[in-house]
Amino acid sequence: MIDKIKAHIEEVKKFSASKIEEVEAFKNKFLSKKNGVLTGFFTEFKNIPAEQKKDLGQVLNTLKLSVENKITELKGKIEENSDKNIDIDLSLPGENISLGSLHPITVVRREILDIFERIGFVTIETPEIDDDWHNFTALNFPPEHPARDMQDTFFVEKNQSAVIRTHTSNGQIRYMENHKPPLKVVIPGRTYRNEDISARSHFMFHQIEALFVDENVSFIDLKQTLLYFAKEFFGHKTKVRFRPSYFPFTEPSAEVDVTCSICGGEGCNVCKYTGWLEILGSGMVDPNVLENLGIDSKKYSGYAFGLGIERITMLRYGVKDIRYFFENDVRFLSQFENI
Ligand code: PHE
Repeated sequence: MIDKIKAHIEEVKKFSASKIEEVEAFKNKFLSKKNGVLTGFFTEFKNIPAEQKKDLGQVLNTLKLSVENKITELKGKIEENSDKNIDIDLSLPGENISLGSLHPITVVRREILDIFERIGFVTIETPEIDDDWHNFTALNFPPEHPARDMQDTFFVEKNQSAVIRTHTSNGQIRYMENHKPPLKVVIPGRTYRNEDISARSHFMFHQIEALFVDENVSFIDLKQTLLYFAKEFFGHKTKVRFRPSYFPFTEPSAEVDVTCSICGGEGCNVCKYTGWLEILGSGMVDPNVLENLGIDSKKYSGYAFGLGIERITMLRYGVKDIRYFFENDVRFLSQFENI
């Protein structure tokens, strides 16, 4: 028996293989539980006289170890070679990594702020939750004004002392509290109103407020600034139109329309065949507001306006439903990857 085992040890030493199937067959031959060579020897081993067991046991173990080592060695080699054999074409393009994109509201907000920064406006931010004074009272809202009604405003405190701002105009007050004229700021931010959600309105939206206060600021400055903005943003043929309006904190007040960017003023379903689109509310800062902040309204005057970013984004990209902006549906957002 010992000679037979030694012969197998020699056989194992010489064995080599280049395919995994050959290694598997080799493994089977020696280690198979049913009829493996080693299994056979171990069965015989039980019956041999005790005094022979020591020597025989050692040789048998050598065979077992050499079989196991051989299998590991050959498997390793075959795997290594199979890696080498793969043809790698380093000139092939890599896998596409999707980078995501900026939200359309972000894109348009940045573009608008950039246009105003080019003519000297400084961008600042002010709180989203504010008190009655900054959101209403200092802005000349009379106590019984309908905008204070629960219908329009989200109150944070039961006694109505804190609100989630209904417009970015609270930023005018926040800024004038701490700065003396000349003032020239744009204030982007989120705003909230207790309104039903539909294709055209939402309970949350974004605004950009602008405030300019200095000596001798007149309505002409407001008109010229808005004409400049409209041409920069919508194109050089764009015209603006001012319609008289009312806001408690401006006097006079005006809503501003631009010629429809879709049809160029010819009339289409977006501008409801009027050729005009409303884009913002504006006016000369009411002297009462300046006086509320301790600014001498005889010496200083100013203008302010507030525009809705969603509305302008909808016009620019032909988005028909405001709800898309808040649903985060990748099918919608991915369309803005290249802008
Ligand atoms: N705050 C007004 C609104 O939300 C817009 C506005 C801002 C009007 C500044 C005049 C001056 O509708």
